[in-house]
Parts: sequence; C-alpha cells; structure tokens
Amino acid sequence: MTLCSFDKSKNRIAEAKRYMPGGVSSQFRFGVSPTPLVFERAEGVYLHDIDGNRLIDYYMALGPMILGHSPADVIQAARDQYERGLLYGGQSELEFQAARLICEMVPCAERVRFASSGSEAAQLALRLARAMTGRSTVVKFEGHYHGWLDSVLWSVAPPADLMGPEAQPVPFAGSAGQDPQAGAHVEVLSWNRPELVAERLALGDVAAVIMEPVMCNSGGILPAPGYLQAVRDACSRSGTVLIFDEVITGFRAAPGGAQQLLGVTPDLAIFAKAIANGFSVAAVAGKADIMDRLASGGIVHGGTYNAQPVAMAATIATLRRLSAPGTYELMASRGHRLMEGIRGVLDRAGIRATVTGLPQIFHVALGLEKPATNYRDLLAVDRKTYVRLTTALLERGVRALERGSWFMSTEHDEAIIDTTVAAFEDAVRSVLVEQRA
Ligand SMILES: Cc1ncc(COP(=O)(O)O)c(C=O)c1O
Repeated sequence: MTLCSFDKSKNRIAEAKRYMPGGVSSQFRFGVSPTPLVFERAEGVYLHDIDGNRLIDYYMALGPMILGHSPADVIQAARDQYERGLLYGGQSELEFQAARLICEMVPCAERVRFASSGSEAAQLALRLARAMTGRSTVVKFEGHYHGWLDSVLWSVAPPADLMGPEAQPVPFAGSAGQDPQAGAHVEVLSWNRPELVAERLALGDVAAVIMEPVMCNSGGILPAPGYLQAVRDACSRSGTVLIFDEVITGFRAAPGGAQQLLGVTPDLAIFAKAIANGFSVAAVAGKADIMDRLASGGIVHGGTYNAQPVAMAATIATLRRLSAPGTYELMASRGHRLMEGIRGVLDRAGIRATVTGLPQIFHVALGLEKPATNYRDLLAVDRKTYVRLTTALLERGVRALERGSWFMSTEHDEAIIDTTVAAFEDAVRSVLVEQRA
C-alpha cells in the first residue's frame, strides 16, 4: 500500500505563517499531526487535499457536515438565494420558516433566535438566564466546552494537578489572556454526579446550569440513567434555568437533539454545526417566557450576520432533509457498524480501549478499562498512542480527530465503513510494530 504524504500541505502552512499566525484561522486547527492540512475541495465523505490525497473524512468539519460535503440540495437552496440578495439588515421569510421548523423539531423550542456561532449562542443563553433570574452564578461541568469566550472557557481541559478535589473543582482558565473576573461567577462541578448539583442548587442562588447533554467534546460520555432528569428536577426546584448545549448533539443525536433522544427537556438549548450543514448558523431555542424577554427590551442581542438569508436557505434545506423518515435510524445503524468494527480491531490486537457515545458521534479512548463517566476518568486515556494511530490512519486515507471523536454523516455507507475498518486495522498493526521496534 502506498501511504499518503502531506508535504505540500506542510510547505504551504510554513509559507502561510508569514501572513497568518500558525498558518491557521482557529486554534483547534493548529498542532495537529503530522501537519495542518490544506484542502482543495470536498464532496460526500471525501476531502481532497493539495497533495492529491482523497481522504475519507470523520472530522466532518467538527460536526456541521451531517449530510456530507457539498450536498446538492443544500447548495442549490443557497445558490437560489444568492441571486436574491446576501444580507438585508432586516427579516426574511426564510428565517421565519427556519425558526418554525426548529420549533416543530425540538422539544424545548417555543421561540428561536439566530446567531452566527455556537460561542455567541452560549453567550446569549447565559445572558437570558441571568436576566430572567436576577442571579449571577452559572454552573458548568469539567470537560464540557461551550465555546472560546471568556465567560465559559473554564475547566474544559484542566491539568490533573490544578483541578482541585472532585467534590469542589477549582475553575481553571482555558486560555492565556482570559479575564480572571469573567470566571468570578462561574462554578465548576464534576458531571454525572446528581447529588453535587442538587446540593449546590439547593442554595437557591444559581442562574443557570449549562451542560452538553451527552459529553461529546472530550469523551463520548452518556449521562448516567436518571442524571439529566435529576438535574432537571433540581433546576425546577431552585428556579434555575437549565441550558443544554446541543451545538454537537443538535440535529445529530435525533431530529430534536439529545433532549428528544433522552427525554429530558431543558429551558433553553443552543444549536449550531449540523443545523445548516456548513453555513455559519447558530440558534438559541427555548421556552417562550424566557425567550420573549428579548422582545420586551433590556437584554441586548446583536449580530450583523444573524439569520443571513443564504445561510437560512441552507438551514431549511438541511432540516427538511434531516426530517425525512428513517434518516437517523440509518445513520445510527451505520455508526454502530463502525463502532463495532473499531472495537473488534482493538480487541483482536489486545489493545485496552473503550468505544462509547452515540453512533452518530462516538469516541475511541485507548487505555481505559471501562467507559468514562466524567472528565476525571478521561485523564487515564493514552493520548500519545492515539495520535500515532490517527496519524497512521491519515496516511492510509482516513481522517479522524486526534482527540478521539468520530463524526458520522448520512453519506458514510457500509462500503465506506468497511474500507475505514480495514484501514484502521492496518494502522493499528503499524503502530504496534512501531511500538515493538
Ligand atoms: C458543545 C459545543 N458548544 C459550543 C461550541 C462553540 O461553537 P462555535 O465553534 O460555533 O463557536 C462548540 C464548538 O465546537 C461545541 O462543540
């Protein structure tokens, strides 16, 4: 087998560094192995890079490309709108239609506000919760990511020696330059521990609890049975706004997101990524009594590009296709096939590992005896070997995230999955040989 090489990408990134820090536009595209890649085009499950490699993609742009790359219907909808105008600085029928579709699909959605990124949507949800309750404190969970802004970038990946005891984690700033005061009203708890939430909320001074309802960013961890309901009940008892961050799970876990799949309805939820298959769309959706505070003044939410008409046309096309009967069942059965395939390869190779999460977005963690239940369990993951494995996999034409996540799309069919599993087996073999050498 000829292995893919990435020399042109490597050289182009080195040149681009003269104009762009690190040659990239997001910190999360930086420092990937063997190099940040430069792409020319994408279609279906494939990415084509400037070295001439055709890669089977499981990054799927970190979540948005749920219908695969360049789906004809979404592109056509966007193209039709291009002819009619790019940005009106006012409303369009398209955003009304998109909002209505979301209200029909998502259990908590009685009203919708659009934004352009998940980080902004998180900012708006927290602002709404604080305005609604007149309280300042927000509770978030270790290992959960809600965007890169100062208000929420706390304890996403805290180092073991600085995270404090599990019963009382110490909020850890995720970035140099972050305003320490922005964390003054952020408290961090360990996830999947219902008693910790109940105890904290009983004090009656928490504005909002925000969480990924399935912990996708750091580890494909499902909520323990009854956990989400216990948090829901604690929030209801204490008048705290429950916010589900469905930026990854929204329109991916189920048509109505993780809240529909798992049967627990938050007060507010935020969406982005799969909502528009690659266009910059995010949304806050939630209960009318909270959301309508935006109509009565006093709470500021702006955004020049909010509900951009081309992106709204893409949103409608994406959500319509995702609403087709059988879509999620098919994606789930194929996702299970891939999870089983990967598990089988690792078992046969005698590598201790877990493969966990939802079939549409799952996580492979080397070195764990049993599925993690929260961030602290993930500290035992063998990340170094996994990066070697994803690098070997990339050389074999399959692109998966170094951090362990695998994003499926409607376009990953059985043949693609079987090709992926064969490449994974070969990559595992090469890493084992390398380790023995
Ligand atoms: C769960 C979650 N919330 C929020 C965000 C932030 O979204 P964005 O990158 O669109 O600002 C992300 C991004 O990866 C995410 O995964």
